[in-house]
Amino acid sequence: MDARAAALALLAWYAEAGADEAIGHEPIDRFANPRVVPAVPLAATAPPSARRRRPAGRSRSARPMPAEGSIAAARSAALAARSLEELRAALLDFDGCALKVTATNTVFADGVAGAPVMIVGEAPGADEDRAGKPFVGLSGQLLDRMLASIGLDRRRNVYISNVLPWRPPGNRNPTEGEMGACLAFIQRHIELAAPRVLVVVGGTSAKALLDRREGITRLRGRWFDWQGPSGGAVVPALATYHPAYLLRSPAQKASAWKDLLALKRWLTEAGIDLAAGVE
Ligand code: URA
Repeated sequence: MDARAAALALLAWYAEAGADEAIGHEPIDRFANPRVVPAVPLAATAPPSARRRRPAGRSRSARPMPAEGSIAAARSAALAARSLEELRAALLDFDGCALKVTATNTVFADGVAGAPVMIVGEAPGADEDRAGKPFVGLSGQLLDRMLASIGLDRRRNVYISNVLPWRPPGNRNPTEGEMGACLAFIQRHIELAAPRVLVVVGGTSAKALLDRREGITRLRGRWFDWQGPSGGAVVPALATYHPAYLLRSPAQKASAWKDLLALKRWLTEAGIDLAAGVE
């Protein structure tokens, strides 16, 4: 292999591993942080020969489930939080999800805490990872326009978060293990934010939060009763398409518009005055 081909192969390997953009001038050795450890040591899950190369037919997102310990630790840390600030601190302190190692920022939330509407997406992308805020990239801009069309605005009456607070490298799909390790945090997040209505965008978040097996095409436009693990108030939850999917498949915007109208109707019938904003 000549030098050019070797350099191209190396770049392709980086992109495959999720290192697909240059963010700073100096590299940061995130593995140097001794407090952040992968949820499951790779050595415990596969023999060296199996670790060197991905088995044929196994997707890049197929990673080992996190140890039960990670899920239990997430549950107790999340449940112990009595406020959104405590929950944010607990998340910053949580070392049970390996995505934290590769992420630039922990993306907690944006918008108005205590707002009547809470939107929950899947995971931060590159823009969100850089900014430390959910839905600020192209799909976030579409989300803002969709919300504005029914009088919603993250500066006044919407609160936004994701199931995962850390970006999966290269925007790959999150694994079940990663979702499992972080689920308790978003569940507690919803309990503490106490929205009147929840909007779950995208199939991955709908499956995780609503505990369903169907794809988003079957779930969208339907209302579910969401209840947190503490057994508090039941919150009506509407599933809809993810704005990133709508950017790729604009023909589905008609269905998303129906969902937005259903949400608007629900808010009107519940007597929620969107113009009033949140104190
Ligand atoms: N997609 C998501 O699901 N969440 C974000 O914050 C950005 C893109």
